[in-house]
Amino acid sequence: MNKYYSFLMIVVIISLSACDAGRDSPRGFSLPKGDEVKGKQVFIKHQCLSCHLIADVEDNEITRELEEPIQLGRKTAKVITYAELVTSIINPSHKISRGYLVNSVDESGNSIMRNYNDVMTVAELVDLVTYLQPHFKVTPVEYSPYRNYYVH
Ligand code: HEC
Repeated sequence: MNKYYSFLMIVVIISLSACDAGRDSPRGFSLPKGDEVKGKQVFIKHQCLSCHLIADVEDNEITRELEEPIQLGRKTAKVITYAELVTSIINPSHKISRGYLVNSVDESGNSIMRNYNDVMTVAELVDLVTYLQPHFKVTPVEYSPYRNYYVH
């Protein structure tokens, strides 16, 4: 490759990335497939149950931190993507889940959810997300029925 050609390549790469939706864009984000069974263990190990409820795990011994624990998994009209789930775990304040706003943020508007980024391995995170995703069921949007009315 001569010098001119490599310079051209660099220009092309820079201009391509400039067309992207920005460096925070989830485009191209992809996680390897994880292990659901291990993911459930991760969920228990990190005591997510101290603030959450989930359909298939119970632990009556756990010390609850929230008066009203937040149910994980909900019907949603929007596909919960890996990117969204991962974000809600590693950067919970990015988008506070709607419906929980009342007691889920501190005075500065940040999520009160604990930060696991220094204690959870990437492998654990991948398994955890694989375990959690099927709990978020996707339902089609329901449209309100239109009624015909006539002007006399
Ligand atoms: C100290 C309490 C607390 C702990 C512990 C906690 N969370 Fe949360 N979590 C919250 C709160 C409050 C919200 C809702 C506000 C928000 O979206 O950040 C939330 C939201 C979430 C959401 C988004 C839910 C939705 O419906 O969009 C996920 C997923 C989640 N938590 C996973 C976890 C996992 C996995 C763990 C354990 C590794 C965990 N949380 C531990 C408090 C907690």
